[in-house]
Amino acid sequence: MTQQDWIERARNVLPGGGFGNFDPGIIIRNGQGSRVWDEDGNEYIDYLIGSGPMLIGHGHPEVLDAVQEQLSKGMTFFANNAAGIELAEEICRAVACAEQVRYVSSGGEADMYAMRLARAFTGRNKIMKFEGGYHGMSAEAQMSLAPTKLTNFPMAVPDSAGIPASVRDEMLIAPFNDIDFARSLIAEYGDQIAGIIVEPLQRIIPPAPGFLEALREECDAHGIILIFDEIVTGFRFAYGGAQELYGVTPDVCTLGKIIGGGFPLAAIAGRADIMAHFDKSRVGPEGFLMQLGTLSGNPVAAVAGLKTMEILRRPGSYERLRHCGRKLMDAIHTHLDGAGHAHQIVGDPTLFDVVFTDQRIANYRDVIKGDAEKAAAFNARLRERGIFKSPGKVYPSLALTDDDLAETIEAIAYAVQDLPG
Ligand SMILES: Cc1ncc(COP(=O)(O)O)c(C=O)c1O
Repeated sequence: MTQQDWIERARNVLPGGGFGNFDPGIIIRNGQGSRVWDEDGNEYIDYLIGSGPMLIGHGHPEVLDAVQEQLSKGMTFFANNAAGIELAEEICRAVACAEQVRYVSSGGEADMYAMRLARAFTGRNKIMKFEGGYHGMSAEAQMSLAPTKLTNFPMAVPDSAGIPASVRDEMLIAPFNDIDFARSLIAEYGDQIAGIIVEPLQRIIPPAPGFLEALREECDAHGIILIFDEIVTGFRFAYGGAQELYGVTPDVCTLGKIIGGGFPLAAIAGRADIMAHFDKSRVGPEGFLMQLGTLSGNPVAAVAGLKTMEILRRPGSYERLRHCGRKLMDAIHTHLDGAGHAHQIVGDPTLFDVVFTDQRIANYRDVIKGDAEKAAAFNARLRERGIFKSPGKVYPSLALTDDDLAETIEAIAYAVQDLPG
């Protein structure tokens, strides 16, 4: 069966010929360490890494052993299990805001419940989010996620059909990194805002100095719950996530991807008095936030996450990850500069991409002003040379070897060489 055969079979049974996530023109057969292979046997260095979870590489032998051992004991119980409890303990040790943890199966669910939790705790309805911020697929999260029609802030624009206007009316949208705008919005609506949800580094855009601190201050002043979406940044930016790296502690955060070690597991973690709303015996029926899920705290995912986190705790892990990222950022910059292509390398060494513009990037509107055609051509040429990445991100992994880096840098040189204008 060739890749093309699979692509055609997929078209018959999957809308758009795919799972909705990624280019349906490639079918991945397997992965090992830093690499993946497609159904035709083509080999790629993997900078997609499952959209983030496979930070230590595919098929890590220690994770495989832990998973095999758990598989022989049972795959899911619905009831509490020791692995899930241990994982929650480790999250609470590692993550500054985490006093208690509630599991779900996907990052988007975690974000949906985090927003609902802010509403349950404060008794208010409005949620503030930033334009271009990605928080999964809930109705709230679909507001101004990737709008093509740019309206005046704080009006939300739904990015999906099927969402009633009443949801939009409870959302306040602000530009990322604009401290003055955030303050003015909070001055006007502060006593109606339940929570502010923010990716501490939005997609690839780092927070401006003082931006997260200003949000923290405003939330304290107005009794608003500050939610950091750390689905991507958790256990990647540092063991304690972006809140450790940037030194700002939210009230609640969401975690996913890495904590499930490649299996479906995500979590809401936060202050115990807020998390109490998941416990009817503490808050009574009025304050209770009903939440359950068949696979929540799945033991296979929990052991995979625990082993992944153990490996990340070993000395030098984060230094190595940052070293790899920095090397790639520098190489892209040097080659594009040499060829006279206006660009910005945006992000953190653990997660970044190139935007083809000579303008500084501070928010979503700056990113979409970049030359998308040039970016697509660059990514296509990288793919030709065996570099597998998402259209908007480079995710380095700990499995990268020095040879992988050297090969990637050669591919970057090739991609830049033939890049149009
Ligand atoms: C910042 C952020 N939040 C939430 C999510 C949603 O996670 P999931 O795809 O597991 O639902 C993602 C997914 O990439 C994400 O990047």
